[in-house]
Amino acid sequence: MDMKITSANPPVRVLGIESSCDETAAAVIENGRSLLSNVVASQIDLHVKYGGVFPEVASRQHIKTIYAIIDQALQQAHMTLADMDAIAVTRGPGLAGSLVVGMNTAKGLALASSLPLIGVNHLEGHIYSSWVYPADVESIPLAPQFPLMALLVSGGHTELNLITGHLTYKRLGATLDDAAGEAFDKVARLLGLPYPGGPSVQNAAAEGNPQAFLFPRARLEGTWDFSFSGLKTAVMRVVRQFEEKHQPLPVADLAASFQAAVVDVLFSKTIKAAQAFKAKEIVVAGGVSANKGLREAFLAQKDFTVHIPPLYLCTDNAAMIAAAGFFRFSAGQQDALDLDVLPTWPLS
Ligand code: KG4
Ligand code: ZN
Repeated sequence: MDMKITSANPPVRVLGIESSCDETAAAVIENGRSLLSNVVASQIDLHVKYGGVFPEVASRQHIKTIYAIIDQALQQAHMTLADMDAIAVTRGPGLAGSLVVGMNTAKGLALASSLPLIGVNHLEGHIYSSWVYPADVESIPLAPQFPLMALLVSGGHTELNLITGHLTYKRLGATLDDAAGEAFDKVARLLGLPYPGGPSVQNAAAEGNPQAFLFPRARLEGTWDFSFSGLKTAVMRVVRQFEEKHQPLPVADLAASFQAAVVDVLFSKTIKAAQAFKAKEIVVAGGVSANKGLREAFLAQKDFTVHIPPLYLCTDNAAMIAAAGFFRFSAGQQDALDLDVLPTWPLS
C-alpha cells in the first residue's frame, strides 16, 4: 500500500464527522495530517445532572447541532463541500442512536455532493490523532514509526495493539472488566466528584498524596490484559470505612492514590509490551491519554519516543476521524450509502 504524499500531488481533503458519544464534532484534514479546522461541541452541561451520558438526550442534541458544526468546520477551513475529496464518519463503536445521527448526516452530504463516504472505526480514529498537526505549525512533526505499540485508553476501551503498518492492528490484550476511563468515572462517583470523572479525579489528585493508600495493581503477568474492577472495589471499601466511622473522606488522597495505581499499570505494561514486541515507538490515545499523571509517566522515560496527542485531540473529536478516513480512502476504501453503524465494532 503506497501512501506517500508528495507536494506535487494536489492535496487530498477529508471532512470528518464524529457523533459516537456526547461530543458533536466536524473537522477538515489535508493529506491525513494537516488540520485545517476542528470544531467540537461538548454536551457535558446537558449530562452533568445525570452523572453520565444519557443516550437519548445525546442523540437529540447531535441532531440539533450537527449541521451547524459541519458548517462551522468548513467555514473555518475557508472551504465548501466542493473542496473536499471524501467524507469520513464514525461508524462505531459508540451509542447507536448517536452514531446514526452522524452517519445519516454524512450520507446526506455524500449523496448531495457525490463525494465518497468512508466509515471509520472510532478507536482507529483515536490512534490516528497522533498523526495530526495544526496546518500553521512551523515544522512538520515526524509521523509515528512502525512497528508501533499503541495503548488505547478511553471511556469504553483499554487495550494494547501492535501496529505493524497503516491500518494493520494486532490486539495483544485488553481489559477484562472496566475500561480505564470507566474506572475513573466510577471512582469519581464514589468520591462525590462530578462527571466526567477523569478530569475531576485528576484535579482532586493534584492536591493529594499518591502514597496515602496502597491500592492493588492487577499485573496479570503472562498476559497483555488489564483489570480495573479490583482497584475500584478497593477504593469503594476504603470509602465505606470512612463513611461507617462518620469521618470526612480524604478525597484528594484517595484520588491521587487511585490515579497512581491506574497510571502505574498502564505505563509499565505498555513499556514492557513495546520491549517484548520490539516496537520502534509508542502511541498513547483515547480520552484517558489526557491524564496528566499518565502523560508525565510516559514523557519521563527515555527508552521510547512516545506520541501522545495534544489535549484537544485526546478526547473525542472529528480531526482524528478525518485523519483515519484519509488513510482508508488512500487504501481504496469507499463505502456504500446503505452503510450501517456498528455500536460494538472492535478495532481488530
Ligand atoms: O475517548 P473519550 O473522549 O470517549 C470514548 O471514546 O470513550 O474518553 C472518555 C473517557 C472518560 O471516561 C473520561 O473520564 C476519560 O476519558 N478522561 C480522563 C481524562 N480526561 C478524560 N481520564 C483521566 N484523566 C483525564 N484527564
Ligand atoms: Zn473516544
